[in-house]
Amino acid sequence: MNGAPDITTRIGNKKHLKLVTTPEQAAAMIHPSDTVGMSGFTPTGYPKAVPLALAKRIEKEHFKIQVFTGASVGDELDGALVRAGGISRRYPYQSNNDLRQQINTGNIAYVDMHLSVMPQQLRSGFFGKMAFAIVEAAALTPDGDIIPTTSLGATPTMVSQANKVIVEINVTKPLELAGMHDIYEPLNPPYRRPIPIARAGDRIGLPYIKCGWDKIAAIVPCDIPDTGKALGAIDDDAKAMSKHIIKFLQEEVRKGALPYNLLPLQSGVGSVANAVITGLQHSVFTDLSVYTEVLQDGMLDLIDAGKIDKISTTAISTSPEGTKRFFANLPAYKDKIVLRPQEISNNPEVIRRLGVISINTAIEADIYGNVNSSHVCGTKIMNGIGGAGDFARASYLSIFCTPSIAKKGAISSIVPMCSHIDHTEHDVDVICTEQGLADLRGLSPIERARLIIRSCANPKYREQLTDYLNRSLEATNLAHIPHILKDALSWHQRFIDTGTMEEKSPNI
Ligand code: COA
Repeated sequence: MNGAPDITTRIGNKKHLKLVTTPEQAAAMIHPSDTVGMSGFTPTGYPKAVPLALAKRIEKEHFKIQVFTGASVGDELDGALVRAGGISRRYPYQSNNDLRQQINTGNIAYVDMHLSVMPQQLRSGFFGKMAFAIVEAAALTPDGDIIPTTSLGATPTMVSQANKVIVEINVTKPLELAGMHDIYEPLNPPYRRPIPIARAGDRIGLPYIKCGWDKIAAIVPCDIPDTGKALGAIDDDAKAMSKHIIKFLQEEVRKGALPYNLLPLQSGVGSVANAVITGLQHSVFTDLSVYTEVLQDGMLDLIDAGKIDKISTTAISTSPEGTKRFFANLPAYKDKIVLRPQEISNNPEVIRRLGVISINTAIEADIYGNVNSSHVCGTKIMNGIGGAGDFARASYLSIFCTPSIAKKGAISSIVPMCSHIDHTEHDVDVICTEQGLADLRGLSPIERARLIIRSCANPKYREQLTDYLNRSLEATNLAHIPHILKDALSWHQRFIDTGTMEEKSPNI
């Protein structure tokens, strides 16, 4: 194969070199309407060469497939297939502009799911048969088992459930990743056993994905690196939120509500979550552990600063600079990190047992503590719920952050009623904006509303929110959760109509 990278040394049994083929030949194996599972989680560890070749084929032959991944993947997969018109249905999370646009115009059926749940539903056959799994690998063992790369996501289940597997060996991923993975697939009920993880770093499974040569339809060489997202500089709002959260955690330790080294931390995707983790570097906390689904650059900083004991994750979701740093110091990082399937990294049983402190990002929160993290103005999907729901409900302490305003101040992120709810008031202990932090634990709805408006709302919208609350209290005669339903979502409607939620008149 002209120009293809040499993967001979990465194939553990030379008898099977005959399976090595081109991306085009592998892509030709897919049938129209097939359900295809692809590896990858928060753009890392996803196949690239085969999806790009498949997109080219679809441009000529015009057909569609249904696509499952672990979570979001890079443009070589989602973007290329969407632009070719090749996706009919997509599960369970995405963050691609072209895909988002096609979902929001009704051209692609998108099923936004809790990430821990999807593998079980695949195994149970809820979605029918999976024809192919296309999987990025660092290498294949002598028995035809798969050494994955920088994410695990739902790959073990896709491999166990698919009829056939196409393995894309990516030579940009170091072979030294081998040994970092811990693969454990629970049985479905009623045969399921307790998952024996008692500490974030416990290893309970195999370092490779069971597959076997019989299942492998093709092996494709690839030298395209992940297109990880560069992280923006940590802005003042993110720094402020990080400070509020660290101060709050210090106070919890002082009161004896948390141990000196906290409890295992989870932090969500995006710049704010990364800023909070980076902020811990200069905090008093040591011997920290992490039980999360994405490892971002801030966690490498914590390892470098000697603050981290162990990190459990399903993806090394670093920026391009972070990835270089990770690969350059792999032996040192490897000792600290366990990569697990998303069914385990996000497993509510384990999260509840470990007492995880979860820190996720909201699009908006309402005055009673409900959180929307997926739909702008209640209708257009941004990314999806991702793993936030797995963590928020099961965690020991559930924190949500958001800047108090969006769209240069035209939108208040604290609203009377969320236009869509991903995390109910029962799953949200703390809300934090750059303005301050509201500890909602033990408070009634009306107490929560007053505290959120006072501590978290932007001064620009505080009066409007207070006015709404006072009118609702009066109109409902102090109901348990006072609302004036006809007004509750008028803030969002006003933004849709006029481009701002600002209102000078008291009658919103
Ligand atoms: N109203 C309308 N739009 C809003 C908004 C609000 N209150 N708050 C944010 N947005 C928009 C931003 O303007 C931006 O849109 P743009 O790209 O068109 O400018 C977009 O939402 C993303 O906001 P950004 O400020 O860049 O935040 P982020 O990168 O930190 O992402 C989430 C925030 C909520 C979208 C992201 O964290 C997410 O997808 N969360 C759900 C998944 C999850 O929590 N997983 C957790 C486990 S890893």
